[in-house]
Amino acid sequence: MAVINEDDLFFGADPEKTEKKIFEEAHIGNMSLKNRLIRSATWEALAGEDGSLGNELIGIYRDLARGGAGAVITGFTAVSATDDVPAGSMRLDSDSLIPQYRNLADEVHRYGCRIIAQLAAGYFVKDGRKVSIDDMMEDDVCRIVKDFADAARRAAEAGFDGVEIHAAHGYFLSRFFSPYHNHRKDRFGGAADRRARILTDIIDAVKEAVPGLTVIAKINFFDGVEGGVTLSDALMACKQMERHGLDGLEVSAANTSKTGFEVPSEEAYFKDYGLALKSISEMPVILVGGNRTIESMETLLDDENADFISISRPLIREPELPNIWREDRDYTPKCISCNGCFSTPGHRCRFNLEEEK
Ligand SMILES: Cc1cc2nc3c(=O)[nH]c(=O)nc-3n(C[C@H](O)[C@H](O)[C@H](O)COP(=O)(O)O)c2cc1C
Repeated sequence: MAVINEDDLFFGADPEKTEKKIFEEAHIGNMSLKNRLIRSATWEALAGEDGSLGNELIGIYRDLARGGAGAVITGFTAVSATDDVPAGSMRLDSDSLIPQYRNLADEVHRYGCRIIAQLAAGYFVKDGRKVSIDDMMEDDVCRIVKDFADAARRAAEAGFDGVEIHAAHGYFLSRFFSPYHNHRKDRFGGAADRRARILTDIIDAVKEAVPGLTVIAKINFFDGVEGGVTLSDALMACKQMERHGLDGLEVSAANTSKTGFEVPSEEAYFKDYGLALKSISEMPVILVGGNRTIESMETLLDDENADFISISRPLIREPELPNIWREDRDYTPKCISCNGCFSTPGHRCRFNLEEEK
């Protein structure tokens, strides 16, 4: 396996000027989006314990779709019935959920918006006990791979346009890929290409279960711990996933929802990772993390060759932001990236809740 030499990467150099604009049709895999703005996965903590969707949750997605985003990625959506996941996570671990998730997809489609299910695993649990990555049996790993493929099949049957494999932010796949957590001696452990095997096995299984479904992934380029994922590990995994037919990659890292960064000077705080990926890959790259002004987003698309911009917190405060920006490209979003939304019911904006009182 070739090793990626970090000295050969562009890192912020101007690769090739393109003519991309935020508000134009664009494609990822088999999916066409009316613009390049995507709502990044945002766990609302509002689903029932069995993954059921109430009116409040459906209403959030309706507002996002009506607000003009090209696509919405659901919050963390559990693929396995038995693992330990964040409270109130959406789930696609049972066929019985398909009709409800079809209602959600239909609601989003009414506004010409695409919907992507973020498929995720939490902590692996067996016989009622959490099991570390190292202590999982090979059969357990294969079962997780199958759970992802089954969940993708359910998403497709529910009318979703694509799935995102969540391999970021310290959840199961992120830990599995990280040398900090994975010391396995079998074919799923060792160097980066071996630790990435679970990711490529999932892509193969999903593509076999649902040929033609758009499959993207979100991975950590940095884990925030010494001995965690390195840039060359992440790039290696991305190349491998691309060879297995991955349709796009959302670039993320530890400290995902940063606070206290300056706008515009510190916007797009993971952009160097995205640019490094762009320099070795043909896949569409989705840049997340602190995107706040149309001017800098279009610089990323136009001068730096990124393909899509994804946003979470500003759309909690103003789901209609894409429509506002389409009319007024100089509009400054109200979100101050305070992370207050992590501690409110439904992960709503605390300022919106105060105004509604
Ligand atoms: C309340 C909240 C919940 C989130 N839930 C998820 C999630 O389920 N999956 C995920 O990949 N990222 C999740 N994120 C991270 C966002 O997708 C995004 O990567 C991060 O907030 C940076 O983008 P922003 O600066 O536009 O908010 C969440 C962020 C927030 C604020």
